Amino acid sequence: MTQIKHIAFIMDGNGRWASKRGLPRSAGHIAGAKTVAKVISACNALGIKAVSLYAFSTENWKRPEDEIKNIFKMITDFNRRALKECVKHGYVLRYMGELSALPDDARAAIEDACARTADNAGMIINVAVNYGGKQEIVRAACTARRDEEGKVSAADFEDALYSTGLPPVDLLVRTGGEYRLSNFMLYQSAYAELFFEKTLWPDMTAKKVEKIVGEFALRNRRFGGI
Ligand code: IPE
Ligand code: IPE
Ligand code: MG
Repeated sequence: MTQIKHIAFIMDGNGRWASKRGLPRSAGHIAGAKTVAKVISACNALGIKAVSLYAFSTENWKRPEDEIKNIFKMITDFNRRALKECVKHGYVLRYMGELSALPDDARAAIEDACARTADNAGMIINVAVNYGGKQEIVRAACTARRDEEGKVSAADFEDALYSTGLPPVDLLVRTGGEYRLSNFMLYQSAYAELFFEKTLWPDMTAKKVEKIVGEFALRNRRFGGI
């Protein structure tokens, strides 16, 4: 099977999943966080090297304050459980995005988990929080290393992205039935194969991930060739 180095998920549909059941949207975010654990272990079993997960976008600040609070609570809970899994399986936990805007306790827990797993050698779990693809590109344009002539190489530009050290995204999956990228990993997904799944994120399963990866293997990635 074609080896996937990097798979990325736009985890959409938590709110609709809850509404369909007559539950508050927060119940969808709690269910969604549980799904993450299943998807991560499916990816690990498939030999994937890195998994990126979109948890909170720079545009999600437009949501009601109460929902934002619940999402950060969910991210903090996820982080606690993920740290245990990372220790057990040797995963590396990373985050990308403007973390300085996060509540202090959430940021401290995240930084602690990253530090504790940084030396692991297993699969990389890369969580996007307060992340925007356009903001990331502008940030890299400002901070990338310049040579004596003031020029920036592609390698130095990529080093200035949050995703430094990660391979490009091979496979980008969006659940929830929308056909858009919503500002996720715009640079890294330049040649990603795109999969749009109707399934709402909390209903994702290991089997569904395996099916998508199976379909990916049948795609002909030409990268501009013939
Ligand atoms: C995605 O699910 C999770 C986050 C944005 C945090 P949504 O909350 O967007 O769920 P829907 O799209 O409203 O169903
Ligand atoms: C994308 O989902 C962001 C995350 C999954 C974190 P949204 O629900 O925010 O995207 P839009 O608003 O439908 O584009
Ligand atoms: Mg949504």
